[in-house]
Amino acid sequence: MSGQQARTVPDLDFNDIQGTLLRHRPDVYYGVYILFRVDDAEVLKRSLRTVLPKVTTAADWESPRPFTLNIAFTYSGFEALGVPADSLASFADEFREGMAARSVVLGDVGASDPKHWTAPFGGRDVHIGVVIASTNADGLDEPVSIAQQLAGATIIYRLDAGVLPNRREHFGFRDGISQPHIIGSTDQPRPGQDAVMPGEFIFGYEDELGNVAAGPTPEVLARNGTYLALRQLHEDAAGFRRYLRDNSRSPKDEERIAAKMVGRWRSGAPLALSPEHDDPELAADPQRNNDFRYYDHDLNGLRVPRGCHIRRVNPRDSLKDSIVSVNLHRVLRRGAAYGPMLADGVLEDDGAERGIFFIFLGASLARQFEFVQQVWMNDGDFVGLGNEKDPLVGDNNGTGTYTIPGKPVRRRLSAFPRFVTVRGGEYFYLPGIAAMTWLTTRPPAIEGNHRV
Ligand code: HEM
Repeated sequence: MSGQQARTVPDLDFNDIQGTLLRHRPDVYYGVYILFRVDDAEVLKRSLRTVLPKVTTAADWESPRPFTLNIAFTYSGFEALGVPADSLASFADEFREGMAARSVVLGDVGASDPKHWTAPFGGRDVHIGVVIASTNADGLDEPVSIAQQLAGATIIYRLDAGVLPNRREHFGFRDGISQPHIIGSTDQPRPGQDAVMPGEFIFGYEDELGNVAAGPTPEVLARNGTYLALRQLHEDAAGFRRYLRDNSRSPKDEERIAAKMVGRWRSGAPLALSPEHDDPELAADPQRNNDFRYYDHDLNGLRVPRGCHIRRVNPRDSLKDSIVSVNLHRVLRRGAAYGPMLADGVLEDDGAERGIFFIFLGASLARQFEFVQQVWMNDGDFVGLGNEKDPLVGDNNGTGTYTIPGKPVRRRLSAFPRFVTVRGGEYFYLPGIAAMTWLTTRPPAIEGNHRV
């Protein structure tokens, strides 16, 4: 697709699209993630029908409301609900296989191997996921009770998440700054925000290649739906602090190395715009804090290392001499922190479970989420860095290196440990409202459906 001006702005069906797909959460929010196993499909379908009017669409997201509630289904969930075999077969292979089966592609090895995952992840019992958010803790009572009253299904997992008191994630960085702008979403794109065709993220619309991707069938199931990857990512906050301390020359140097691993200072100020020191004012200004590219001023990564987290997961314009089209691999994120903060200054692990409940949304798990994990995060070849991996999130095992380009000499950190461990995860499908009506009003399945 050439110039963005040539693109027609599509009419998105805000009343049918689930809100979390298109809309941003408020800066401060409380979230609950609940996973269900289906016990009795017909009872559950009846019960879900009564809940559908409570599901938050993109149309009603912006109006004042005490909470938002969105619902997603796994492949085994669709099986349990009796979705017909031809429809089951129409979903993407990776979704049908489930996240645990994709461990090699995703780099879920060593401590992140699905064999170590927390139950119920990794099995076939996770059928439905409900994502709830509210701007205040009390606002969660009503939606949680709605979820608890779902009949015909059992709650098998619950995780509370949200914004930490310091509004950072557990390594100390501000998160959730850069997202692609979805054309047709009615938001105003912010400076530096790439405009991406909605078909990249929502079935039923044109994508970056000018196609309307074939989603699942029948058409009602595809339209306004998307895939969702959910991952519980444990963060070793103490290990991160220790590594920085052991590999730096001073507290100031520690901050610099941390920023060089991410590509932003902990405040969120981008290294691309403020390479020498943090700039909290820049970080707080949405008109400036994402307004940068790499090709013209920093192709070699002297400011923002080519191997750092944000430049790997979104190389922006830095690959424009290659055949890779960055906009085909964009990631829409809806993550949230969970667990208590590690007390200031503590360098030893306190045993608490903490991290990010990461959510990816997009029309292709393989081309978007899995590609980013496999090619950009866990391999250095695309930026000429050989075996180097993402220093923050990569599946490092204590033997790798991380290169920080510099003049006159670069700096190379060694014995790079794993800071993020996958505790579990699953692939979901987030249908539109009409699709959920179809799902919950279908007559019972006559014969059993088969999984792949
Ligand atoms: C515990 C794990 C993770 C941590 C602590 C983390 C942290 C961060 C931070 C601090 C930023 C910069 C702020 C921002 O632009 O929003 C960021 C950006 C980003 N992260 Fe992560 N992240 C994690 C996992 C992931 C994963 C698994 C993916 C994708 C597979 C991912 C994709 C992205 C993307 C696409 C951006 C925006 C880059 C840009 O457009 O400049 N992150 N992350």
